[in-house]
Amino acid sequence: MKKILVTGGTGYIGSHTAVELISEGYEVVIADNLSNSKITVLDGIEKITGTRPAFERIDLCDGQGLESMLQKHGDVSAVIHFAAYKAVGESVGQPLKYYRNNLLSLINLLELMPLYSIENLVFSSSCTVYGQPEQLPVTEQAPVQPATSPYGNTKQVSEEIIRDTVAASNAIKSIALRYFNPIGAHASALIGELPVGVPNNLVPFITQTAIGIRGQLSVFGNDYHTPDGSCIRDYIHVVDLAKAHVVAVRRLIENKNRTPFEVFNLGTGRGVSVLELIRTFEKVTGKPLNYRITDRRPGDTEQVWADTSFANKELGWQARSTLEETLRSAWEWEKQHHQPEI
Ligand code: WQD
Repeated sequence: MKKILVTGGTGYIGSHTAVELISEGYEVVIADNLSNSKITVLDGIEKITGTRPAFERIDLCDGQGLESMLQKHGDVSAVIHFAAYKAVGESVGQPLKYYRNNLLSLINLLELMPLYSIENLVFSSSCTVYGQPEQLPVTEQAPVQPATSPYGNTKQVSEEIIRDTVAASNAIKSIALRYFNPIGAHASALIGELPVGVPNNLVPFITQTAIGIRGQLSVFGNDYHTPDGSCIRDYIHVVDLAKAHVVAVRRLIENKNRTPFEVFNLGTGRGVSVLELIRTFEKVTGKPLNYRITDRRPGDTEQVWADTSFANKELGWQARSTLEETLRSAWEWEKQHHQPEI
């Protein structure tokens, strides 16, 4: 049974990926410092799959801690690296926290992998590297724009660090997956998004408003150059996203990658506006949403959605869930596990 190390594996996308890996017959080891997730996520993974993944509480910025873990689990076939801070707004106020954590953890991993004969790395990247693309839908060949936040810059720099490391030796081959907007939760509603404090992202704020934790949703601007004036994004079900990671890991392990460093867009290929998403949520749940239009949020991209043809063709992967199904899963998760403000 091939063993996969999932860093940040008790997080939102990491936990859903652990479920899909286990379901596909992989052995999973989760490494997480629990700075933005809960250990109880392991219970959800076990209830869904019948298997409790091995768990190591470590901070990847601690090279020694990481090395002892690799010594303990030396026969790892691939690493999926999710562990990173990801709050755009927070990164603007605390850039060094983001640069240190997100870059040092990756550098430690890249330095130690070859010492333990681990040659395969799947990296969690983001559509933020595109900024506001000149052409839509955006392809992997679109120019990377100057990042609009330190968080986005850590994703851009991380890709460059991986690209340069892969080019310098044949010790590592890698696939970077550029996520668009992950939303929703596993159909069991046993795992899902667990935002800490007031959610930054749209969908958890919507579900918390609908369930009564938040009073009203602010729609950040309806004066954009879009059909209804609100921003457009490509919202992808987190389980569709997780399945793509299993395909990417298998591609590397089986040496099916065409170049030592490949990049794929993971989206649905469909742009949806904020107001359209709200209307869809109301239709799916039958619950009118209390919202008001407010000023734009600084740093917001006006519209971005993916050209997914490369991932569809090369990976044989396609996002399957409709927006309705995805929002329904987010609502089911909120109803089962809403987290009153602590
Ligand atoms: C979506 C739209 C907001 C909240 C971020 C990260 C990105 C990725 C996904 C990690 C925007 C609007 C939001 C609210 C609103 N994360 N909105 N009211 O900013 O597209 O992307 O999450 O990889 O890296 O940047 O997602 O959900 O914050 O915003 O009107 O209370 O919803 O203006 O148009 P975003 P988001």
